[in-house]
Amino acid sequence: MTLPPSPRGPHLLQTAGWVTRPGPYSRRLRGRFGDTFTLHVDRRAPWVVLSHPDDVRQVFTGDPNVFHAGEGNAILRPLLGARSVLLLDGPEHMRERKTLLPPFHGERMQTYGELIRGIAEAEVASWPTQTPIGVRPRMQALTLEIIMRAVFGTRDEQLRAQLSTLLDWMGDPLRLMLIVLAGPQLNERAMRRMRAPIDQLLTAEIAKRRAAPDVHERDDILSMLVSATDMDDATMRDELLTLLMAGHETTATALAWALERLARHPTAWERLKTGDEDYLDAVVKETLRLRPVVPAVLRLLKAPVTIAGHDLPAGVAVQPNILLMHTREDVYPDPFAFKPERFLDSPAGTYTWIPFGGGVRRCLGASFALFEMKAVLRALADAVETLEPIGSSERPQRRAVTLVPAKDAQVSVARRAAPVRRVPPVPTGR
Ligand code: HEM
Repeated sequence: MTLPPSPRGPHLLQTAGWVTRPGPYSRRLRGRFGDTFTLHVDRRAPWVVLSHPDDVRQVFTGDPNVFHAGEGNAILRPLLGARSVLLLDGPEHMRERKTLLPPFHGERMQTYGELIRGIAEAEVASWPTQTPIGVRPRMQALTLEIIMRAVFGTRDEQLRAQLSTLLDWMGDPLRLMLIVLAGPQLNERAMRRMRAPIDQLLTAEIAKRRAAPDVHERDDILSMLVSATDMDDATMRDELLTLLMAGHETTATALAWALERLARHPTAWERLKTGDEDYLDAVVKETLRLRPVVPAVLRLLKAPVTIAGHDLPAGVAVQPNILLMHTREDVYPDPFAFKPERFLDSPAGTYTWIPFGGGVRRCLGASFALFEMKAVLRALADAVETLEPIGSSERPQRRAVTLVPAKDAQVSVARRAAPVRRVPPVPTGR
């Protein structure tokens, strides 16, 4: 087989490079090998890293029976369960995705607008002023609250605490490296142990909802799954956990990065405060471009494919690399600068702006996440007068599958004398 070039040296070094500093490491290899190269990180298959828009388009529009994303995500199986939409492939995946999609449609999300605004306002009101605060954990508490309310329609303190513990456990980069190196089996028992109490709580919640007389009138996701599908309890537990886990740490991290960048770009912050909705949209897009939360996505090849001029055999994984795509000079001039204006001048490209992956596997919660980010940032900009950075720019640091600000996005804020009242933004598709 003719795999693209690969760095020499032990696989352990490649794994360490990818796990600990995926951005600088990928860019160094791009400087050496160009847009396409091979990484040996995963025991199951070599990764062919792709970062040219044509190659990424080929993957995202390719036959889902050939490009298996579910298998690519296998590392998450012990945690999310084998029935999770993230882990399925082929027709099974499409069926499950269709079942889960309705609550994420634009008009459904309108109902979450006031809820998000209320939760965000209460959060900002609790921030101490002119004192350094770490934004990421605060955003995580906020987005967990939001996703739990969207999924269950209520608040469950026990479940909230268990999910936070699980995420912190997963967040340890050393643990992730072990999982990547040794395969999920090594940590399987530990992961199952972590999941057991959550399963108990989910089982109880599902039983309660099945028995609720008003289940058909409720507009939360669990009620919708109970009343409009024939999903069994085990599948429902996997899917609920998937939505809860995929749905909040990612969005919290993106919001933390937005504040980390805005605090260092006072002109952008001032413009955001004017209430300009297009600019708000551009700030969100530029944050997700420059600081993508997820560094890359994977597809395991089930048949030979010719891509980027290489004949790749089945069994190899291709990796559309989000970090590399988002720092292409030819697509994003001055790629390391934070310039929301670039998205006012030209729209985000389907195959060049890919923080949510793409194709039939594109993030199911992308519209929800964008809507949530805008609603929270709007509430913040309406309540906060000054946003000051603490220390120098923060570098991206691994936390489980995400890249978070190394110091939790430390800022200091001063609230406005009287917060501005605005209606929440209208959801849009992308
Ligand atoms: C800024 C926030 C978010 C980011 C950056 C993000 C990113 C991603 C990425 C990169 C993927 C993989 C796509 C691919 O393989 O092509 C994905 C998949 C997924 N995401 Fe998100 N996500 C975010 C928020 C959410 C939210 C809020 C939810 C749910 C409420 C969610 C649920 C999912 C699900 C269920 C999948 C699997 C889709 C499938 O396999 O068909 N995500 N996300």
